[in-house]
Amino acid sequence: MTSGALFRLSQAQTYYSYHGMQDRDADIALQKYKPKMKWNSKHKILDIGCGPGDLTYNYLLPLIPSNGEMLGIDISPAMINYANSKYKDSRLNFEVMDISNPKVAEKYKLNFDSVFSFYCLHWIQDQRSTMRNIYSILKPGGETLLIFLATSPIYRLYELLAASPKWSPYMKNYRDVISPYHYSADPVSDIKNLMQSVGFHVKECFCTPTSYTVPSKQVLYKSIEAVNPFLSLIPEHMLKEYDQDWKEKMWKSNLCTLLETNEVTFKYSLITIYAYKPH
Ligand SMILES: C[S@@+](CC[C@H](N)C(=O)[O-])C[C@H]1O[C@@H](n2cnc3c(N)ncnc32)[C@H](O)[C@@H]1O
Repeated sequence: MTSGALFRLSQAQTYYSYHGMQDRDADIALQKYKPKMKWNSKHKILDIGCGPGDLTYNYLLPLIPSNGEMLGIDISPAMINYANSKYKDSRLNFEVMDISNPKVAEKYKLNFDSVFSFYCLHWIQDQRSTMRNIYSILKPGGETLLIFLATSPIYRLYELLAASPKWSPYMKNYRDVISPYHYSADPVSDIKNLMQSVGFHVKECFCTPTSYTVPSKQVLYKSIEAVNPFLSLIPEHMLKEYDQDWKEKMWKSNLCTLLETNEVTFKYSLITIYAYKPH
């Protein structure tokens, strides 16, 4: 299963409305790293896994000069349709593309000054070809800032659902959508070693335990629906039952905490990498 390719257009809309956590974490990372990064007068940026395009447009586009260029790619045609319909600028293009596909390196070799990716790379099992592609498409001296999940309660939820006889037929390949670092004892070393082995100089790489609080159960449910790729695999007539079941499992297993204020909080860990391609 190719994870993100399963997103429907309605999910692109839901994701757009319910991705406060991703928005906050991308913003924090950019505030910290954009002053450290190198910028030039014809700067070219790639945003991998741009989703509905709002972070590309709101956070990254303002970083490039008037004759800079920026490309947002995503494996999901639904996401790219959404981004194209909403965000227009002469410097900006969106394209359907799988960053782990070797053709990316051929098409965009030595093309970009910087490559960003927010909340995408945990979807991809083939980390080596992904990192190799990022390396190939950067110009010498080019930089990359990548943030993605190591662990998340949603992965535990998928494990629980996939273990139940009712849902297992639709979630056979659930491991494909779980971060490759979820089961790692030392994700930082794994990623650093991988990046160095493809040629990167890693300036910073860390994995931070993080939490996020949403204002209500409803917002939590929408935020989970927005990224659940199995929704398009469950038969229509079973969707209501699936919906009830995952919510029940989530609360029974204490995957998140309901606060007295009716807000809901949950914990996850986030990997941040800041690296460059040596000259
Ligand atoms: C959670 S969204 C993040 C969107 C946006 N960057 C943000 O932070 O709001 C993850 C996106 O990665 C995309 N994606 C998953 N696998 C991908 C791949 N192999 N190549 C490109 N995009 C991919 C998904 O389709 C999805 O739109």
